[in-house]
Amino acid sequence: MKTILWATLTANGNYAQSGPENPPKKEALADFAAHAKAAGNFIVGRRTFESMAGNGGGGGPFADLDIVVISKSAPEIPGVIVVGSPEEALNYLQQKGHQTAFISGGADIHNAFLGQGLVDEVIFNVAPVLEGKGLNLVIDKDQYRYKQVELLDCKPLGGGVVQLRYAINL
Ligand SMILES: NC(=O)c1ccc[n+]([C@@H]2O[C@H](COP(=O)([O-])OP(=O)(O)OC[C@H]3O[C@@H](n4cnc5c(N)ncnc54)[C@H](OP(=O)(O)O)[C@@H]3O)[C@@H](O)[C@H]2O)c1
Repeated sequence: MKTILWATLTANGNYAQSGPENPPKKEALADFAAHAKAAGNFIVGRRTFESMAGNGGGGGPFADLDIVVISKSAPEIPGVIVVGSPEEALNYLQQKGHQTAFISGGADIHNAFLGQGLVDEVIFNVAPVLEGKGLNLVIDKDQYRYKQVELLDCKPLGGGVVQLRYAINL
C-alpha cells in the first residue's frame, strides 16, 4: 500500500495553520477532497478531526470514506475508526484492501509518519500567505538529518496555490 502525505505549506515554508480569520483556500480544500476520494480514505489526528467535525466534519463529501482518527486517549467516535498509532492506521487500511493511505494532518500526525519513515509520497500545496512563528514539518524532531526527494510534479491549482509532489522513499 502506498502512503501519501498531503499538507498545505505557507509561502514562507511553514506548515500552514488555519482558522476562521485565515481559512484554507477553496482550491486547496477541493484538492484535498479529490485526493481523499481517490484514495477512499484519510488518516487524521484527533485535534484536526475535532476541528473538522466542528465544521461539519466526517459527513458530506467524506461520508463514503474510511476515516481513521489517531489518538492515544480518545474513546470510540461514531462513523470513524479510532486507532492508537500510525502503524495501526496503516494496518487497518491495508486490511480493508486500500491501495493508498492518505495522511491529512495535523502537524503531530504528519511529523509522526515522517519521523517513522512511513511516507512514500508528499503533496505540498503552497498557499499564498506568509506566517510568523508557526509549525513545521520535520523528518527528525531531535537531530539534523536530510533526505533527498524526487520532484514528481509541479502545477498551479488556481487561487495562487502551487502544488509540489515528491517521492520520498527512493
Ligand atoms: N498544513 C496542513 O495541511 C494542515 C492540515 C491539518 C491541520 N493543520 C494544522 O495543524 C494544527 C493541528 O495539528 P496538531 O499537531 O495540533 O494536532 P493533530 O496532529 O491533528 O492531532 C494531535 C493528536 O493526535 C494524537 N497523536 C499525535 N501523534 C500520535 C502518535 N504518534 N500516536 C498516537 N496518537 C498521536 C494525539 O491525540 P490524543 O491527544 O487524543 O492522544 C494528539 O493530541 C492546526 O494548527 C491546524 O490548522 C494543518
